[in-house]
Amino acid sequence: MPPLLRDAALTAAFDHGAGRYDRLVALNPGYHAQLRRSARRLGLADGGAGRRVLDLGCGTGASTAALAAAFPAAEIVGVDASAGMLDRARAKRWPSRVRFVHAPAEELRRAEVHGPFDAVLAAYLFRNLTDPDAVLRTVHRLLAPGGRLAVHEYALGGRRVDRLVWAAVCRGVVLPLGTATGDRDLYRHLWRSVVEFDSAPAFGARLGRAGFERVRVLPLPGWQTGITHTFLGRRAGAETDRASTDGAETHGTEAGGARTGPVGTGRARTGGPQAGGAS
Ligand SMILES: C[S@@+](CC[C@H](N)C(=O)[O-])C[C@H]1O[C@@H](n2cnc3c(N)ncnc32)[C@H](O)[C@@H]1O
Repeated sequence: MPPLLRDAALTAAFDHGAGRYDRLVALNPGYHAQLRRSARRLGLADGGAGRRVLDLGCGTGASTAALAAAFPAAEIVGVDASAGMLDRARAKRWPSRVRFVHAPAEELRRAEVHGPFDAVLAAYLFRNLTDPDAVLRTVHRLLAPGGRLAVHEYALGGRRVDRLVWAAVCRGVVLPLGTATGDRDLYRHLWRSVVEFDSAPAFGARLGRAGFERVRVLPLPGWQTGITHTFLGRRAGAETDRASTDGAETHGTEAGGARTGPVGTGRARTGGPQAGGAS
């Protein structure tokens, strides 16, 4: 097996696949709705008025659009390492409060992306990073006191069925599509990077080790239950007066049948109910 794509090789693969990316994700039921759900889980009040939000690994702007919809008054900065993906993002219509920066997540300072940010969303990024802990520390440093992180990521729950569903989806859909579109390396990377990445409880624990507080691992509805999660954490510090105490979606029962719930305060529990996803 070749090693996972990393850094320049991964960026080149995204550059290559950028023109087809939006059409491929459109085949994934709920892709955009789930991004919007994770964005809303950041729970900024007043539509994000007066807030700065960072979309790390923004790609063609799907996650940026989710943030723009969730927080129609926030200033949003999208950052991505792939010029090809960013070209696609920039070609879309955006309000003036949205801007994009071409930079790797590891070089934000050099790209003059400075905090503080009130919230950070990273959708489908962390599994791709050579050193996710270093980037988590950077995100933590860029957040204002009380600032919020939402990581939306493929990270398998603890059940055997989660691994089986992921393997079936990859064998039946992801790899054939990747082969047909000429992006086999990228989509084989998608498969293997999920298998080799942290489980959902392990990534929650990783957030805790990086200094995030009030870590929660929340499931998402639909076929991705037990496969894709929203990970929430906060930088310690005073709650800001315009932020809601918690996104309304972080408690109770989700539409679509996915159960949510906190998995710990201060540090994520690794054996909690989230380990098996939402069923
Ligand atoms: C799977 S796409 C997700 C894009 C978007 N967030 C979405 O939800 O559709 C992952 C993105 O992360 C970017 N990426 C990967 N490694 C990166 C890094 N080290 N720094 C910045 N962006 C990176 C890729 O270029 C790609 O655009």
